[in-house]
Amino acid sequence: MALLKSTKVFVCLGNITPSVGVMSARNSSSWWGGVQMGPPDPILGVTEAFKRDTNPKKMNLGVGAYRDDQGKPFVLSCVRKAEALIAAKQLDKEYLPIGGLGEFTKACAQLALGADNEVLKSGRNITVQTISGTGSLRIGANFLSRFHGGSRDVYLPKPSWGNHTPIFRDAGMQLKAYRYYDPSTCGFDFNGALEDISKIPEQSVILLHACAHNPTGVDPRPEQWKEISDIVKKRNLLVFFDMAYQGFASGDIDRDAWAVRYFIEQGHNILLSQSFAKNMGLYGERVGGFSVVCKDNEEAKRVESQLKILIRPIYSNPPMNGARIATTILNTPDLRAIWLEEVHGMANRIIKMREQLAAGLKKNGSTHNWQHVIDQIGMFCFTGLKPEQVERITKEFSVYMTKDGRISMAGVSSGNVEYLAEAIHAVSK
Ligand code: LMR
Repeated sequence: MALLKSTKVFVCLGNITPSVGVMSARNSSSWWGGVQMGPPDPILGVTEAFKRDTNPKKMNLGVGAYRDDQGKPFVLSCVRKAEALIAAKQLDKEYLPIGGLGEFTKACAQLALGADNEVLKSGRNITVQTISGTGSLRIGANFLSRFHGGSRDVYLPKPSWGNHTPIFRDAGMQLKAYRYYDPSTCGFDFNGALEDISKIPEQSVILLHACAHNPTGVDPRPEQWKEISDIVKKRNLLVFFDMAYQGFASGDIDRDAWAVRYFIEQGHNILLSQSFAKNMGLYGERVGGFSVVCKDNEEAKRVESQLKILIRPIYSNPPMNGARIATTILNTPDLRAIWLEEVHGMANRIIKMREQLAAGLKKNGSTHNWQHVIDQIGMFCFTGLKPEQVERITKEFSVYMTKDGRISMAGVSSGNVEYLAEAIHAVSK
C-alpha cells in the first residue's frame, strides 16, 4: 500500500539500464523502453504489405482466404440463409457455456468423425467450441503442456503451417520435426517421413495435417496413411490431427476426413482441431472445435472438466454468432445440401485455376516442370520459388506471397491467372 502511494518508483526494464522514473504522463512511455520492434507475421504481414501497394495489378496470394472468380471475398449463400433464419428467431445474447454451444460441438464432432462413429455413440470424446483453428490448437497445446505426462516434444511435418511453431512453443512444448516434403519431386517424402517417424521417442506428440497440407498442398495417399498409422502405433505416439480444410482438398467432406476416421478405427485416441474458416468461409467469425478422443466416457468427463478450467481464465466462453451459423447449416438439411455444393464449387474453382496457371506457364515458354501446380491439392500451391524469386515477383510484379514460395490458389482468378503466369515465368526462367 505504502508503495502505491509513493510517486517515486524504481523501474527495471529487462536487460536495459535500470532508470528511476516518476509516475507522470510525461515519461510513462519509459515503461516499454526495452520492448524491441518485432517482425511482421510471416503470413498475415503479407496482407499488410499488399494493402500499402498502389499497383492496380497487385495480387495477394499470401493468406489462405477464398476469393470468387472476380477476386472478391466470398460469403457462402448457405451462410446468408442461416443468418436470416437466426435473425428471425430473435435469440438472446447470454453467455455460452465454457465449452461452447452444445448443438455446435455435437455437429462439429459428427462432421469430422462421421455421425455413426463408435466414439460418438459411446460418448468417449469431448469436443469444445474454440476460437477457430488457431484457438483450438492452442487449447490443445495448453492441455498437452499441462497434462501430457509422456513428453513435451511435438513433432511437426517439415514444413508446417507457420503458426504451428509459436502456438506450441508459447504453450511450453518443445518443437521437433519429421521429413515431409521432397523439394526434388515437389511431392510427399514418404520414405523420409517413415524413417523419421520410426525414430521418434515413444509417447511424443506427432502433428498430422488431416488433408490439404498447409503450406505444401501435398497429402499422403490412403495406403501411405495406413503405413503411417502402423508406425505411429508401434512408436506409441500421441496423434494430434489438424483439420483446417475439411472439404477443401477433394470437395468432399467425408473423403477429406478419411485419415482421421481411419486412425480412430485403428485405435488411436487422437486429439483433433477443426476450423470452419475455410470450408464455411467463416474466417472472421472464428468458429472451430477441439476434440479429445478418450478411452471411455468416464475419462472424457475428466478431460472435459480440465478443458473448462483451462479455457475459463483465457476467454471465459466462446462467441456465439459463428457457432450458431455453422450449427444451423449443419443441422438444416436444405442448407447442408447447399453448403456441400458450395464447398465442392470452391474446391473445383481452385482446381481449374491450377490447370490454367500450369497452362499459362507453358504458354509463356517456361521449360520447368509445373506438374506439381496441378497435382498439389487444397488451397495452397508450394511453387518451389526461392526466397530471392519471391522478393523479385513482389517487387517487380506486386504479386504477394509468403517467403517460402507458397501461393494461395484461392486468390487466383480467370482475370489474373495470365498475369501470374507471366510473373512467375519472368522470375523463374
Ligand atoms: C494461412 O495459412 O494462410 C491461413 O491458415 C490463415 C492464417 O491464419 O495463417
